[in-house]
Amino acid sequence: MAYIEFDDSLRVGNRVIDQEHEMLISYINLLQKAVENKASSGIVEKVVDGLVDYTKTHFFVEEELMKAYAYPDMDSHMLAHEKFRQQANALVESLAKGEAVDLPAVLAFLKQWLTAHILKIDARFADFLKDKSMS
Ligand SMILES: [Fe+2]
Ligand SMILES: [Fe+2]
Repeated sequence: MAYIEFDDSLRVGNRVIDQEHEMLISYINLLQKAVENKASSGIVEKVVDGLVDYTKTHFFVEEELMKAYAYPDMDSHMLAHEKFRQQANALVESLAKGEAVDLPAVLAFLKQWLTAHILKIDARFADFLKDKSMS
């Protein structure tokens, strides 16, 4: 069983956003496998880099949609993204420097953060887009 199952409970009803969330979850599942299989630090670093890059792209897509549709909760949603971006950058930096990183704790954080963000913050935005016939 995957570390995070992407099923209907995580779908927000917007085709593009759902596809990107599924991809993000694939990256987290890949990282979990790499950690479980005690992959080399080089592999772990590559998977984390891929995950962080894709996350930034995904945030950009959501943020551009929020701006295009003048989403009223844009500021708080973008702030949540920004906090995550900072944590992700710190993680990438630590790995690049070869610092000891508690990867199981990182995975638990990623799982908790992403599922909570999707269910609370992205779902609200997707509902707004549905009202604008943008699903
Ligand atoms: Fe978001
Ligand atoms: Fe999202």
